[in-house]
Amino acid sequence: MPSPVPLDAGTVARLSGLDLSLVTVLQTVDSTNEYLKSLAKNGAPAGTAVLAETQTAGRGRLGRPFFSPPGSGLYLSALLRPATLDPGRITTLAAVVTAEAIEEICGLEVAIKWVNDLFFEGKKLCGILTEGAGNGFAILGIGINVSNRAFPPELAPIATSLERACGKVADRNRLAASILAKLKNADPCSAAHMAEYRRRSLVLGREVGLPNGERVRAVGIDDDGALCVVGADGTPRRIATGEVSIKL
Ligand code: BTN
Repeated sequence: MPSPVPLDAGTVARLSGLDLSLVTVLQTVDSTNEYLKSLAKNGAPAGTAVLAETQTAGRGRLGRPFFSPPGSGLYLSALLRPATLDPGRITTLAAVVTAEAIEEICGLEVAIKWVNDLFFEGKKLCGILTEGAGNGFAILGIGINVSNRAFPPELAPIATSLERACGKVADRNRLAASILAKLKNADPCSAAHMAEYRRRSLVLGREVGLPNGERVRAVGIDDDGALCVVGADGTPRRIATGEVSIKL
C-alpha cells in the first residue's frame, strides 16, 4: 500500500499562503481541537492551524470519539476569530469549504449530511466539530478519512475514505492547504456559502428521522444552518442543533 506523504508544516504554509509561524504539525496529540483551544486562550492569532498524524482522544459531536489512526487521516483544527461566532454558520461554511477542497484535490463530489458530515455514496468520510464559539474565537476541527482501508466493526458499515472512494491516496498537505486557503478568504457572516451548502445537501426534500423516532420532512436550511422540517401533522419546526437520520 502506498504510504501517505508525511504532514509538513512548511508545505502546508507555502501552499496555503499562511505564515509558517501559524502552522503546527504534531506527531501525536490527544485532540487537535483541545491543543488549539489552549493556544487560542493564550492569544494565538486567527488562522493558527494544528495538524496531527494521529489523535489519542479525537472527538466528534455529541460526545462521540473520532477514529484517528496514524498516517491515514487528516486531523486539522483551525482558529477563527470571526465577527460572528454562530456555530451553525461556521460549521456550514467549513462543510462547504472542505467539500470544495476534496473536489479540487481528489476530483470527488461529496454531499453534506446536515449538519456537519461529508458523505460519499452513503458513507461518511469527514466530520466537522466547531467548539469554543462564544469565547471570542471558534475552533474548527475537521477530520477526514484519507487512506483508511479498514475500520473498526462499529464504523465499517457507515464509514469510507477518500482512497476507497477514488482509488488514490490524496496528498494530505495539499488537502489541508486547500482547506486553510479557502477558510482564510471566506466570511461566515455572509450567507453566500449557503446556496452551495443546500446544493450539496443529502437531507433537503427528504424524510428524516429525529432522535425521538419521529419522521419529518426536511424542507429547508436557513442561513444560520438550522434545519426546517415539517411534521406529519403539517406543523413547521426549526431544528438548530442535534442530528437527524436518513435512509440512504
Ligand atoms: C464528528 O464526526 O462528529 C466530528 C469529527 C471531528 C473530528 C476532528 S479531527 C480534528 C479535530 N480534533 C478533534 O478532536 N476533533 C476534530
